[in-house]
Amino acid sequence: MSRKIIVTSALPYANGPIHIGHLVEYLQTDIWVRFQKAIGNQCWYFCADDTHGTPIMIKARAEGIEPEQLIKKVYAEHTRDFDKYHIKFDNYYSTHSDENRQLSELIFQRLSEKGSIVKGEIEQAYCENCKMFLPDRFIRGTCPKCKAENQYGDSCDSCGATYQPTDLINPVCATCGTTPVRKKSIHYFFRLADYQQQLKDLMAGGYTGKSVSNKLDEWFSAGLKDWDISRDGPYFGFKIPGEKNKFFYVWLDAPIGYMASCKNYCDKNGLDFEKVWNSNEYELYHFIGKDIMYFHALFWPATLMGSGFRIAKRLFVHGFLTVNGEKMSKSKGTFIKAETYAKHLDPEYLRFYYASKLAGGVEDIDLSLDDFVAKVNSDLVGKLANLASRSVPMLTGKLDSMLGTIDAAGKKLLHQLVSAKEQIISDYENLDYASVMRQIALLADAANKYVEQNKPWDTIKTDAEKTRTVLTTILNAAKILTVYLKPVLPVFAEKIEKILNIAPLSFADIETVLENHKINEYIRLAERVDKDKVQAMLEESKNESAVAKAMADGQTGQVTLAEPIEPECTIDDFKKVDLRVAKVVKAEKVVGADKLLHLELDIGGITKNVFAGIAQAYVPEQLVGRLVICVANLQSRKMKFGISEGMILAGGSGGKDIFMLGIDSGAKPGQRIH
Ligand code: MSP
Ligand code: ZN
Repeated sequence: MSRKIIVTSALPYANGPIHIGHLVEYLQTDIWVRFQKAIGNQCWYFCADDTHGTPIMIKARAEGIEPEQLIKKVYAEHTRDFDKYHIKFDNYYSTHSDENRQLSELIFQRLSEKGSIVKGEIEQAYCENCKMFLPDRFIRGTCPKCKAENQYGDSCDSCGATYQPTDLINPVCATCGTTPVRKKSIHYFFRLADYQQQLKDLMAGGYTGKSVSNKLDEWFSAGLKDWDISRDGPYFGFKIPGEKNKFFYVWLDAPIGYMASCKNYCDKNGLDFEKVWNSNEYELYHFIGKDIMYFHALFWPATLMGSGFRIAKRLFVHGFLTVNGEKMSKSKGTFIKAETYAKHLDPEYLRFYYASKLAGGVEDIDLSLDDFVAKVNSDLVGKLANLASRSVPMLTGKLDSMLGTIDAAGKKLLHQLVSAKEQIISDYENLDYASVMRQIALLADAANKYVEQNKPWDTIKTDAEKTRTVLTTILNAAKILTVYLKPVLPVFAEKIEKILNIAPLSFADIETVLENHKINEYIRLAERVDKDKVQAMLEESKNESAVAKAMADGQTGQVTLAEPIEPECTIDDFKKVDLRVAKVVKAEKVVGADKLLHLELDIGGITKNVFAGIAQAYVPEQLVGRLVICVANLQSRKMKFGISEGMILAGGSGGKDIFMLGIDSGAKPGQRIH
């Protein structure tokens, strides 16, 4: 009886690119899904972009676009990257969808009716300038412990201390540099503690693995606290029904995004969502990283319990990626975007390497780049691709592309390969891909040994039929190994299928043998990895990170600016500024003010006197007769040296470095500038 399975990966935030850390998860999940399909189960893989929250809103603002535009752009990037890595979702959706809004409202309503949601007043940091409450990550200041400057409101990157934003020395709004004030507001809270016993029972029933449930025990003993599920506007998310300016906190609607993606799939395929999502006919599994355990082991199941939805059969938690034994680092170039890796190296190599490292536990996994090169070259290229690359050209070139039959020695080898099947299936099922890959490597060793012993490159000169028999065994061995490898290397497998001239392989094909069968020409299967390519990838990542940092500092680094950004100026405010072409009729120094020049401007028949702070950059003689741009409707201002009736447009860092805005010589004084 085949099983019906639904699988999810955590929804990546729509405020940044997919990187090789994320890929640990999407590859771990994709391999499992492909495996389930390959053993004949019905398995659907659902995911979506996680599109709500303050960081996305701020990022969109920084780019000068609407959040909707940003998430659309990122959606295209994410799906493009997932495609490159052959991560194949049955549905990849967005949390900013009607389905998700409806389901979020439904769950919120059911929880409210049940008394699981209460209102309460809290006090938070608020930026008067940005007119918004500031999440911890949007407050910066000096670390109270090590005094490092410009640290986040929740933790210090420099010494690792964690604290409250109120502990920061000189806290400022990360967006505009203003010192935040404390402000009260009413929030909605989910009473997590009401579900303590049910959650404990869930863990006891095997919802998570041992190391995860140990962590949960710690949280249970510390006591479960109410969970704040609302945010005040401005916020990019779903409005709370009946509220004017309150929204669901992103983490409330994000996991509901799993359901929304499933619902969208069901609707598109004429399936009954209630039945698919909520009946035990379908097994449900979530894959996540260890950083979001609290949300998935406590909040999420509790909200489902409270709203009458069933809970996943299991939560699979993986560790974090380190590169060369350390946290991914932007300055070392090891914070590698999926896109950047794919420019230099084959995505399947990363699949292969991660698979060799993933054993199903919550331990971190390390991408050691030297080991990566060595493993791909020795195992994938040297052991696996080699089996086909040595035998196929001989068959197509000298033996009419025809397989023969398998002799007793060949059967013995194939039997050894076939007998690994049950163990490999059980290892895949338990996410121990590392064990699968070790077994495959050992079996490939056995097959290569068979090649060495039978020396087809020698026998081909004397005994064509003996050689055909040996090559037939080798290619049948390659076929079996390909079935085992296919969840990890779908493209490699496809090429082997093409060479062998067979339909797509699955585990059902393990025992069938290919005899007296015509094969196709050889296609290149895998290139050796060149260390230079790895180096080039690191260099490119390093540069990208440096550029991104410079841009981010330019956009939000006003923390270091002495002057905060002025309050918002609307486009209508801006339109009030009347800019005109003006001709400098007279220009002279101002006695007693070494920075000022007194200018007389002709704005198409109207004369204006203007005092401009450009004396160190321009001498009066340079200016007479020149066309400049002038704010013609600026309120007159009495200065120490006279009345200034306008302003000319000029800018720069000051002193000699001030540059007047000019206009082409055909412009007429008095002409309006738009
Ligand atoms: N948006 C939330 C998840 C919401 S699920 C309802 C989120 N997004 S994320 O983009 O930060 O991370 C997505 C997944 O990738 C998470 O499971 C996270 O653990 C995983 N990883 C992100 N960086 C990672 C590494 N460096 N290493 C391994 N996994 C990592 O969290
Ligand atoms: Zn601000």
